[in-house]
Amino acid sequence: MNRLLIANGTVVTANATARADVLVEGGRIARLLAPGAYPGPVSRRIDAANRLILPGGIDVHTHLDLPVGEFSSSDDFETGTIAAAFGGTTCVIDYATQDRGERLHDALARWMQRAEDKAVIDYGFHMIVVDLTDAVERELDDLVVSGVPSFKVFMAYPGRLQLDDGAIERVLRRAGRNGALTCLHAENGPAIETLIRDARAAGHLAPTYHALTRPAALEAEATARGIALAARAGAPLYVVHVSAGEAAAAIADARARGHQVYGETCPQYLCLTADAYDEPGFGGAKYVMSPPLRSAGDQARLWDALGAGALQVVATDHCPFLLHGQKDRGLHDFSLIPNGAPGIETRLMLLHDAGVRQGRLTLNQFVDLTATQPARLFGLYPRKGTIAPGSDADLVVWDQERHVTLRADTLHMRVDYSPYEGRTVTGAPDIVIAGGEVIVEDGRFTGRAGAGRFLPREPRG
Ligand code: URP
Ligand code: ZN
Ligand code: ZN
Repeated sequence: MNRLLIANGTVVTANATARADVLVEGGRIARLLAPGAYPGPVSRRIDAANRLILPGGIDVHTHLDLPVGEFSSSDDFETGTIAAAFGGTTCVIDYATQDRGERLHDALARWMQRAEDKAVIDYGFHMIVVDLTDAVERELDDLVVSGVPSFKVFMAYPGRLQLDDGAIERVLRRAGRNGALTCLHAENGPAIETLIRDARAAGHLAPTYHALTRPAALEAEATARGIALAARAGAPLYVVHVSAGEAAAAIADARARGHQVYGETCPQYLCLTADAYDEPGFGGAKYVMSPPLRSAGDQARLWDALGAGALQVVATDHCPFLLHGQKDRGLHDFSLIPNGAPGIETRLMLLHDAGVRQGRLTLNQFVDLTATQPARLFGLYPRKGTIAPGSDADLVVWDQERHVTLRADTLHMRVDYSPYEGRTVTGAPDIVIAGGEVIVEDGRFTGRAGAGRFLPREPRG
């Protein structure tokens, strides 16, 4: 049997940091041993001296190969998961999206086809529900049985993705009964549409108006409304891509009142501010995502919420579009710029640098936010998200001292810009292991397209 020993490293989990050797057999973690204690033969021994051994990152918010109008997000399941691996992420949960009039099972089958033969790391799916007929509502139960126990609903993008509050109520009620977790995009879509219409009528067409027409107050309002609906339905709620401090505060308050409300934020909201929209020319388009980047004050509140445990997950909302050829569709009208930005590769490096190194997070919190809580909330724990006997051997040998300058042309995402161009971070993965196989080493990808498996996930107990 293939037997791998990762020796001399410091193992970091969500609740412990200890010197230990990790023995991997048949793709799983077999044992944790005192350093040097394993006497037997191994197929390979990795020396992790002076480095950390982390559970592989889990990115629970990606949009790979997502069709948007006439084109798709620029990373597919192969390029996107290779980039993820380079950044120390060994599992993604991507958002399958129902088309209008489509059965959820057909939507899932479409996404399965997109991923199989391409994904280099394990993957699961959430389901975005855009058209809630009675039949689709019943299908939500079948979806849970098929290993997709999380749905996303939008309060934004009227006429395209938005569900009205009545439909959201129905999804929440169903999820409350069938053990699914409802993921909420919390922005008040109809109010935003009015602001966009006003801006366009006034000739305000530059990228900065994307942010100005999606104010924090309309994220906070939608977050509070979502929490109220979920609390009434007695269902858990997971608020995706929280960017406004006031939205984070609403989640913290609800949790303090005992509601099962969880919140996710993303590195872009922690490391960039709305000043980015002032980049000369069309540069602000690189940061056109929803919700938009916010103020330094919002950012400080997000960091505080992460530190205090009021937000539980840092994911990416990776949804890249080429600046030249895709985003520039909106060169003369911000409302036509496809929404989304790249991030699947840089999540751990940015959070380590801006969070751990700046003293805002402990290493254990870093692991908790990027691997353990994602696995727990989305039905993958303890198979994923920790380092323990029996868990999948998805591991990262992490060098806390390595400096990396982030540049689009040396990162691996299929996109022609980086929101962090030229920024130097300290701390990066050296070796990445998925299912017991080394897939990144010495800056080279050594894995295989199609090696990633679909992960049926468990509903909530
Ligand atoms: O701008 C974004 N976030 N695009 C992806 C879709 C979403 O709302 O998550
Ligand atoms: Zn969203
Ligand atoms: Zn998203």
